[in-house]
Amino acid sequence: MLPMTPSLFWRSPWLKPLNDVTAWNSLLQGANATWSLTEVRARVLRTVQECRDVVSLYLKPNRLFKGFSPGQHLALTLPCNGVLQSRSFSLSQAPDAGGVLRLTIKLKADGVVSQAIAKLKRGAVVILSQAAGEFTHAAPERGILLLSAGSGITPMVAMLQDWAKRDARPDVLMIHSCRDEAEWILREDLRTLVHQWPQLKIRPVFTGAEGRLDAERLQALAPDFALRDTLLCGPQDFMDWIAAFYRTHGLSRQLKQEHFQARRTEIRPDAERFAVHAPDGSTLFHALNGQPLLEAAEAGGLSPVHGCRRGICKTCTCRKLGGTVHNRLTDTLSGSGEEWIQLCVSTPVSDIHLEL
Ligand SMILES: Cc1cc2nc3c(=O)[nH]c(=O)nc-3n(C[C@H](O)[C@H](O)[C@H](O)COP(=O)(O)OP(=O)(O)OC[C@H]3O[C@@H](n4cnc5c(N)ncnc54)[C@H](O)[C@@H]3O)c2cc1C
Ligand code: FES
Repeated sequence: MLPMTPSLFWRSPWLKPLNDVTAWNSLLQGANATWSLTEVRARVLRTVQECRDVVSLYLKPNRLFKGFSPGQHLALTLPCNGVLQSRSFSLSQAPDAGGVLRLTIKLKADGVVSQAIAKLKRGAVVILSQAAGEFTHAAPERGILLLSAGSGITPMVAMLQDWAKRDARPDVLMIHSCRDEAEWILREDLRTLVHQWPQLKIRPVFTGAEGRLDAERLQALAPDFALRDTLLCGPQDFMDWIAAFYRTHGLSRQLKQEHFQARRTEIRPDAERFAVHAPDGSTLFHALNGQPLLEAAEAGGLSPVHGCRRGICKTCTCRKLGGTVHNRLTDTLSGSGEEWIQLCVSTPVSDIHLEL
C-alpha cells in the first residue's frame, strides 16, 4: 500500500466537505466576494469614461494575483446573461505600488462582455486570470517605434509609463492613429508622460482629417524606422499592411506584434467535413478540416465559452472523449482518445466526441 502523502490525505473522501475547495470558496465569498482559495477575483474601484465608447476599469485584485510586465494582458470573466464569459484585455497602466490594475476597454455595440462591463458599478467583483503574453520590451537599448491605432494603444501606455520611471529612458517615437482628438484613448496619460519626459516623441495621425496612415506618411514621420525596434498593435487591416511593409524591407525580425482580433480562418473549398458528437452520440455540429471547432460550433448555433480565440487564455478548453484534432498553434496531432483540447485552435481530422 502507498503511504498517504499530505495532499492525498486532504483529498480523502472521509474529509468532505473540509477538502471541498468549491464549498470553501462559496463560504469565503459569502463573507467577502473577492476572497477565494483558487481564483483571482478583483473589486472594481472605479470606472472612468475615457472617450465616447471606451471605459477604464480600475481593479484591486486579491492576493492570488502574481503581477505583470507592462504590455501583458489577462482574461476578465464575468456573468453575461447568466453565463460566465471571458475576454482578453491588456493592462493599460504600468504596475502600481498599490497593486491597482487598469483595463481600458472599447465598448462594442454587439460585444457580449464589453456591454456587461459597461454596466459594472463601483464595488462589483470580476474574475481575472494571471497576466500572460510576450508583447513586452523590458530593456530597450536601441530606439523604439510604437505603432498603434484605436484601442491598440493600451499596452503601449503601460510600457511607456514603465520606461518613464527609468534613469536611462529609451529613445521612443510613438505614432498613434485614431479618427480625431476626441477618440484618442488615454490621451491624458500621454500628456502627463510628455510633461515628465520631454524627449518622448508622440505623433498622432487623425484619420478623419488626414486619411489613413500609409507607407509614405509612415516614412515621413519615422525616417529612421529601420533603426528602431518596432511594437505594433491595432485593428487587423492596420497591422496587416505594416507587417507587409516591414517584410518588404526585410525588417520583420524587428517587428513585434500584439493581435487583438483572431484572424478569420481560410478553409480549402474541398475540405473534408466531420461530425462533432456529444457524449450521448447525438450530433452537436459539423466542422470542416482546417476550421477551428470554436468557429464551427458558433456557425452551428452554439455559444461555447471562450476568451482570446487565439489559444492563449485556455477559457475554451474542453474534454475530447474521442477522435483526432490538429492543434494549429503547436502544429501537432492529438491522440485519438480522451484529452483536454482548446476549441479555438483545434481543427478536426476525424469525427469527434466532445464534452461541451
Ligand atoms: C491579447 C489581447 C489583448 C486585448 N486587449 C484589449 C484592450 O486592451 N482593450 C480592448 O478594448 N480590447 C482588447 N482586446 C480585444 C478584446 O478582447 C475583443 O475585442 C473582445 O472580443 C471584446 O469582447 P466583447 O464581448 O466586447 O465582444 P465580442 O462579443 O467578443 O464580439 C467582438 C466582435 O466579434 C463579433 N462576433 C462575436 N461573435 C461572433 C461570431 N460567432 N462570429 C463572428 N463574429 C462574431 C461581434 O460582432 C463583435 O463585433 C484584446 C484582445 C487580445 C487577444
Ligand atoms: S479562447 Fe482563449 S484559448 Fe481558446
